[in-house]
Amino acid sequence: MGYKSYKTPDPVYFEPGDAASAYTLRFEKIPLRINSDALEASAEVARIIADGIRTKAAAGKMCILGLATGSSPVSVYEELVRMHRHEGLSFRNVVTFNLDEYYPMHPESLQSYHRFMHEYLFSHIDILPENIHLPDGQAPRERIQEYCMEYDRQIAGCGGIDIQLLGIGRTGHIGFNEPGSARNSPTRMITLDHITRLDAASDFYGEEYVPKRALTMGIGTILKARKILLMAWGEGKAHVIRRTVEGPVTDQVPATFLQEHGDSVIFLDHASAAELTRFKTPWLAGSCRWDDRLIRKAVVWLCKQVDKPILRLTDKDYNDNGMGDLLTDLGPSNKINIKVFNDLQHTISGWPGGKPNADDTTRPERAHPYPKRVLVFSPHPDDDVISMGGTLARLVEQGHEVHTAYMTSGSIAVFDDDVVRYADFVEEYQEAFRIQHPET
Ligand code: F6R
Repeated sequence: MGYKSYKTPDPVYFEPGDAASAYTLRFEKIPLRINSDALEASAEVARIIADGIRTKAAAGKMCILGLATGSSPVSVYEELVRMHRHEGLSFRNVVTFNLDEYYPMHPESLQSYHRFMHEYLFSHIDILPENIHLPDGQAPRERIQEYCMEYDRQIAGCGGIDIQLLGIGRTGHIGFNEPGSARNSPTRMITLDHITRLDAASDFYGEEYVPKRALTMGIGTILKARKILLMAWGEGKAHVIRRTVEGPVTDQVPATFLQEHGDSVIFLDHASAAELTRFKTPWLAGSCRWDDRLIRKAVVWLCKQVDKPILRLTDKDYNDNGMGDLLTDLGPSNKINIKVFNDLQHTISGWPGGKPNADDTTRPERAHPYPKRVLVFSPHPDDDVISMGGTLARLVEQGHEVHTAYMTSGSIAVFDDDVVRYADFVEEYQEAFRIQHPET
């Protein structure tokens, strides 16, 4: 269930000395910690929690944690368990309140957050059972409101939450506070958004089995926490992160309420940060260190912005759209236009594996070695043919040895009939292209 990511190089877009605060102040309304690797970022979150627990323990006090479930915090819990086992981190002075639970939900059900928390954290640490609080997915329907008010009272009775851990849903929910949740909403029963139910469908083996309701701490309850740490990993979160960090505060993206909290930090990896202005269009955020890649990215963006082909872009287009810097450094516009046009032109070739015995100085691929062994990575077992079927056919026709690696794994649920369908497809594909198994 944990989200694993690979390191990606740090995108360096800004001139040295260009104050990070310049773009932060202009666009970003919540402090961010962006790490190339979600595992490293999770270790940092775990360290902050561990420090909080130890500081409180040293003062003879209890540390009150607000906890989340889902894939985002899994590595944090793994790290906390490791610290408990190997670094003597004790949870004896810890009280926890979980954010939410599906309703109705039996605590032992596969999908219950109660079970999740015990599997990933509580069963592996020395927390006292009486200090664990999770919304009860079996609380009697007619007493729900009272039950939820009591949950808030219990939190307040402990002195409030010291550190609140959050994930974020694609709807912008925190806890299960879906769009429309009020800033001062208390713990309550809510109806889950369609997108949230869709995202949970694989855990429940079908959307129709995802409960329609849940109990969740309110936005008001969450915002009372003294420190808030929100985590978002992977490109699936990139759009909602942009709206949360750069957009206006609105109940349509409940996570934007964190902009009004004095001590909240968002932890991101490069993929979830990719839609932020500083990465997506850094020329709008500060003075850039222009290299060929960034120039090409900016010019292609400008074409879409002004709806013109590259060779038609004018000095005014560059100036009007925050690219005056580039114009000053490398202009005039027609010089930049031609450079990018040529760059793009040279990515197109009828010889995707390189043309043997030909001059390859302006070709996108080397002439030699020939033939080549080609490995195509395809996130799903159809992306390869959909996005580069013609290229695959050419590579095979031109004598290269072509393999496709389908990047699915047991960590995401794939229904049996889908597996069979894809397996059929691979068989047909192999037949169509006369690809033989080594033993045949
Ligand atoms: C879970 C919770 C939710 C999740 C969010 C992201 O307790 O409160 O807000 O944090 O739906 O889920 P993942 O981390 O699975 O992407």
